[in-house]
Amino acid sequence: MTSDQTPLVIAVDGPAAAGKGTLSRRLAAHYRLNHLDTGLTYRATAKALIDRGLPLDDEAVAARTAGGLDLSHLDRSVLSAHEIGEAASRVAVMPQVRTALVEAQRGFSQTMPGAVLDGRDIGTVVCPDALIKFYVTATPEVRAKRRFDEITGNGGSADLASIQADIEKRDARDSERADSPLRPAADAHLLDTTEMGIEAAFEAARRLVDAALEH
Ligand code: C5P
Repeated sequence: MTSDQTPLVIAVDGPAAAGKGTLSRRLAAHYRLNHLDTGLTYRATAKALIDRGLPLDDEAVAARTAGGLDLSHLDRSVLSAHEIGEAASRVAVMPQVRTALVEAQRGFSQTMPGAVLDGRDIGTVVCPDALIKFYVTATPEVRAKRRFDEITGNGGSADLASIQADIEKRDARDSERADSPLRPAADAHLLDTTEMGIEAAFEAARRLVDAALEH
């Protein structure tokens, strides 16, 4: 339920390379909402630590770094590197880091007119009262191939088998951690993009959001 005073929040969760980012950007453009890829906040924290020569596993240092981030300056082109995703998932297991970033993410979600947030714990922890929640998945094979095509499409080189191994390792770390593990919220709509492709996923999501807005 939304009103002129209440921000409209759409939560999109799922494992690495499932298509959440593309879906979220499409939804945000369609409904004229802000968009936050919360993975970038974990990536920016990891990159800041690496750049400053600091360890990735010192919780107090990492939490201070996370708390000092400016969410309006998250550069996707710099942060999207595959290795930064791996470092981000190590930083993301630490509760104090999550507390700092979740607070900033919630603040973002409450800014009018509202936002689409994508990540791992949006529907379960960050925005449990979102108007609507999606959980986007695809098989590891399909997700690895998408990541591979993205890297090679941008002129980079990559090895499909090692990308799949990395994705599976990251999924396991994200799903097995104690604080805010990756899992669908009980009231999330599941969207499996293995076969349907992103355009069909967007259409399915749009119909569900329109229906939720009518109630
Ligand atoms: O989505 P992306 O691949 O950019 O996320 C990088 C890492 O950040 C994930 O593997 C996960 O460990 C962490 N993350 C998280 N919670 C979120 C978003 C990302 O723990 N809401």
